[in-house]
Amino acid sequence: MRRLSLVTYRVDDGVRDILEKTITDRIEGTDLEPDTHTAILAGIGAHALRTHLPGELLGALAVFPHTGHHALLVDNLPQQEFPATPVDGFVDETRLAVVNAVHLGVLQLLGLMPYAVDYENDGLLMRNVAPNPSAAGTTSSWGADTEFFWHTDNPHLRFGEPGTDPRVSVPRYLTFYAVRNDERVATELMAVEDALDQLDESDRRLLSSDVFEVGAPASTDPTEPLLLTGVPVLEGHRVGYRVRFDLGTTRGTTPGSEEGLERWKAALGRAAAWEPVLEPGQVLVFDNYRCLHRRTAFTPTDPTRSRWLRRCYASA
Ligand SMILES: [Fe+2]
Repeated sequence: MRRLSLVTYRVDDGVRDILEKTITDRIEGTDLEPDTHTAILAGIGAHALRTHLPGELLGALAVFPHTGHHALLVDNLPQQEFPATPVDGFVDETRLAVVNAVHLGVLQLLGLMPYAVDYENDGLLMRNVAPNPSAAGTTSSWGADTEFFWHTDNPHLRFGEPGTDPRVSVPRYLTFYAVRNDERVATELMAVEDALDQLDESDRRLLSSDVFEVGAPASTDPTEPLLLTGVPVLEGHRVGYRVRFDLGTTRGTTPGSEEGLERWKAALGRAAAWEPVLEPGQVLVFDNYRCLHRRTAFTPTDPTRSRWLRRCYASA
């Protein structure tokens, strides 16, 4: 049984159209971009969303980080005219002000703090997840032809707590706005509880022991190699377990721990997952401490129209 706890909501077409018009009017003639003007874009988006979204959804957003849900999907949010997919990873952000206001506005209503890190994406807030020819053959969010195995993002850092500087910790929430996905590639999510269901008690204990080391993923700045040693893959916490894992960078350091990792990998292969194909105008938010995620390899279509998601880290 799939134990991923999920909140989903579809915005009515009429509400979407009013939101689009309201936000478009308010950013008209501005040069707002998400790194310099984060709070202004978030404020414009949050005000429009608060004014027009139904109370049921506003309530669900306000409590989401406090409920123990793993993920949230809001469907049918405003879109805009989009430029070509930025296959080199970067785009003139002032041209995306409507969807930046939507994305950052949703985060504000969730009570989450968007943030950038200096160790990847040139220190910019919005990561364009799109196939980049220079990333071919790598397991990067800019790749396409290489399959990702189940992982959590930036597991080489320590877990953080709400109300602290999030940049030094594992990103708590990964948030996405989907621009286009003509290839219909799924974004696959698994609750840590589903993976645990596939392990016996001795393997749960082994994976909860401080006998693993986890390196930084390929997407981070290679001039600063980082290795976290003497950590568990699974950490017991108030709401169950937290998980850190990246197949390519996680090693066992004691006799038997590598074999434990092999059984963990097999468990992940068996466990139940949720496989949404993100549609344009959807926002997906998930808890990177309590979910694993992956994407299968795909062949990009016409590069100007290839799959394009906008990712932003957020913390509680
Ligand atoms: Fe990832």
